[in-house]
Amino acid sequence: MATSCPLNFDVGYLRDQVRATYEQVARDPVGPYHFHRGPEYACDFLGYDRDELACVPTLSSERFAGVGNPLAIGPVTPGMTVLDHACGAGTDLLIAAGRVGPSGRAIGVDMTPAMVECALAAAKQADLEDIVEVHQGFYEDLPLADASVDLVISNGVLNLSPDKHRVLGEVFRVLKPGGRLYLADVVIQRELTPEARSNPDLWAACVAGALVESELQTLATATGFIDTRVVQRFNCFYDTTAETKVAKDLFIQSVNFFARKAGVS
Ligand SMILES: C[S@@+](CC[C@H](N)C(=O)[O-])C[C@H]1O[C@@H](n2cnc3c(N)ncnc32)[C@H](O)[C@@H]1O
Repeated sequence: MATSCPLNFDVGYLRDQVRATYEQVARDPVGPYHFHRGPEYACDFLGYDRDELACVPTLSSERFAGVGNPLAIGPVTPGMTVLDHACGAGTDLLIAAGRVGPSGRAIGVDMTPAMVECALAAAKQADLEDIVEVHQGFYEDLPLADASVDLVISNGVLNLSPDKHRVLGEVFRVLKPGGRLYLADVVIQRELTPEARSNPDLWAACVAGALVESELQTLATATGFIDTRVVQRFNCFYDTTAETKVAKDLFIQSVNFFARKAGVS
């Protein structure tokens, strides 16, 4: 089970590996990586709307590294407060900002300084800086008040945390009653060996930290979410080194997943 890290795991080293990977993506988005990136991938593999994506500055969209399409899971309406809890360079964040409009808020959090810089600069380029705020921080310890957010979006990031209970607990804490989670993440269909689970390189590759699909459902329910369900599937690693070298026999794919906090917003 990857909901918490293996006992022998060096969590500090893991976090450094993950941060170094995404610092590198921020500096050089076209370099060689084990995962797809960018706007063409978002449209062709994940079904992003070309016109909507064209409104996002390339500073952000070239660094897109999501694995699904959380904003396709349900409505995002004017006036909402939306949190993207590991927003990277901000592609989903800026699309959400466009949908919530001037009466809403789009809040991003990410631990990698270079990603935060890109997201902030892109928000300015898109003339969305009055709607968007971006904080450097950890999704295990969100810098937001309890019950302050209508919707949390999440794209390709739960797998990276060694403490997934805590990440989902924080999402639950900041959501208002009736608030929603639109989450996309990598899932696998059978358990990895303990050796693979303990390998920080495989973890930073978005593979070793992925939940078995049934665990995602179990974890969300145990956190307190209701109406949990997988709503769409993607072949996010098609023809990547993650698929050909690491994960071919794991039936690794990604899912769009819906969950809700009980109550009326
Ligand atoms: C696969 S990228 C996805 C980024 C973005 N959601 C997207 O779709 O482009 C993973 C992001 O998660 C961030 N991240 C990883 N661990 C984090 C943590 N503990 N707290 C906050 N951000 C984290 C990384 O800095 C990186 O920007």
